[in-house]
Amino acid sequence: MSAYKIEEHSYDVVVVGAGGAGLRATLGMAEQGLKTACVTKVFPTRSHTVAAQGGIAASLSNMGPDHWQWHMYDTVKGSDWLGDTDAMEYLAREAPKAVYELEHYGVPFSRTEEGKIYQRPFGGHTTEFGEGPPVQRTCAAADRTGHAMLHTLYGQSLKQKAEFYIEYFATDLIMSEDGVCQGVLAWKLDDGSLHLFSAKMVVLATGGYGRAYFSATSAHTCTGDGNGMVARAGLPLQDMEFVQFHPTGIYGAGCLITEGARGEGGYLTNSEGERFMERYAPTYKDLASRDVVSRCMTMEIREGRGVGPNKDHIHLHLNHLPPETLKLRLPGISESARVFAGVDVNKEPIPVLPTVHYNMGGIPTNYWGEVLNPTADDPNRVAPGLMAVGEAACASVHGANRLGSNSLIDLVVFGRAAAIRAGKVVDPEAPVPTANKASLEKATERFDRFRNLNGAVPTAELRMEMQKTMQEDAAVFRTDKTLADGCRKMGEVAGKMGDLKVTDRSLIWNSDLMETLELDNLMPNAMATIVSAEARKESRGAHAHEDYPDRDDKTWRKHTLAMVDGAKVTLDYRPVVTDPLTKLEDGGIDLKKIAPKARVY
Ligand code: FUM
Repeated sequence: MSAYKIEEHSYDVVVVGAGGAGLRATLGMAEQGLKTACVTKVFPTRSHTVAAQGGIAASLSNMGPDHWQWHMYDTVKGSDWLGDTDAMEYLAREAPKAVYELEHYGVPFSRTEEGKIYQRPFGGHTTEFGEGPPVQRTCAAADRTGHAMLHTLYGQSLKQKAEFYIEYFATDLIMSEDGVCQGVLAWKLDDGSLHLFSAKMVVLATGGYGRAYFSATSAHTCTGDGNGMVARAGLPLQDMEFVQFHPTGIYGAGCLITEGARGEGGYLTNSEGERFMERYAPTYKDLASRDVVSRCMTMEIREGRGVGPNKDHIHLHLNHLPPETLKLRLPGISESARVFAGVDVNKEPIPVLPTVHYNMGGIPTNYWGEVLNPTADDPNRVAPGLMAVGEAACASVHGANRLGSNSLIDLVVFGRAAAIRAGKVVDPEAPVPTANKASLEKATERFDRFRNLNGAVPTAELRMEMQKTMQEDAAVFRTDKTLADGCRKMGEVAGKMGDLKVTDRSLIWNSDLMETLELDNLMPNAMATIVSAEARKESRGAHAHEDYPDRDDKTWRKHTLAMVDGAKVTLDYRPVVTDPLTKLEDGGIDLKKIAPKARVY
């Protein structure tokens, strides 16, 4: 038996994570009277959603004609036909409702002259099923949209009496013998105590794993904790090979410069002062989809047309825009450019470089947020008691590439959907399950093992090895060679986890132990990413494979499932959902409109 005393808590629902998806789920659960706890390793308004700048996509038509079917078409095309059709329809249809709800909750959106929610153009968002001009679909609160959303959703959740456990680090899922999720074990960082949260439903809203890479726009807290827990519980991760590089991270610092900057009229140039996107994407130019823009920038640099003394980055120009526009619409990035690049955006271009930004892959779910544990006979089998939402999840609406501003809408649409579903499947009168002793013991022993690791390798050193390997070998462009090298190197890196050294054995504010546990979450994410990428012999969305430059729908229009056990990854596949939610005769989209075709902008 473990020597740790464990404090016990019981809830109808426990949400892990308090970013946009976690808070929207928490709020929705609590509004329905479900006894809800939100367990979060950082203060809610410091979650990474706070860094989301440009906005949230919804076809409100405030700035011109728009339609949910155009949004759906753009999302399907953006996903390079790997997204699930039912989930993409749900996202596009529910988006306006979810945004108006945010407005009514109190999100301080920027406004048009008539007082409507202001919307700006974003890459890959178009009209007329890709035949018309770019659309202004991205609803914005200046360039601090995520910040505005978090504050509003946190306030509303408190109003609904959701209970928050702040600076509690969830370490493992508690699973019954027959695979039902029964709760989580968490470590309270400020006093060192361990807590068992038993629940009828656990919702993972733990965000992405950008920190598996060396240079990312993601916060240092983005360590794929939910994905790590799921992998340890023997459940698969889906489509992990698809990692998005945002075209405009600040060169050197990696901080995000929103795509909204190009939406407001910014443009990219190479060392010859050429607006090169006009060559690659003649119709949508700088507002082509992000994977396309990132690849074009990388090609310019490779071909010797990068800017700066080392010709290794690109310029983003905003200096032609009226100072009032910069002040009103882009105040946050104007400040970031000054602080992190020493640039006055009114006068000079910003040095930028494609930077890891988003994970399309994650925990497989259906469009209600229920986690899937697929079998050959039932690719949509639900894992009972467990949901996942937001960047941790793979619903899959983004497929092989996410459109800008489709992340914030994913957070609220699916956070809300999870609450709607939980309202149906969680019985407030039923007893909370008693935690499986063996599972709890295993989780506690793991915690104790990590606390007492006494090997030869410092955590920071191994983390850097992982980050450098991923950055080099699972990059914007990939080849058979880089991916095979990456698999070999990552196998060696993961193999060193048992040889880590934790120097601080205390339990209170032990950042050494915390970072080691986070590394143990990052590692299965990195392993799943590189192995899934090595296996996929085609190019699709963010997976640009130079030895297989074409998309191969016949063989590869399928989701990858990766089961990770230490350095061993086993792959399987499940079919893409091609049926929409609504038939054409009932007002659904004409499937001919979203049939696979070449993806050009
Ligand atoms: O460019 C941005 O503002 C990022 C938005 C997003 O990733 O959706």
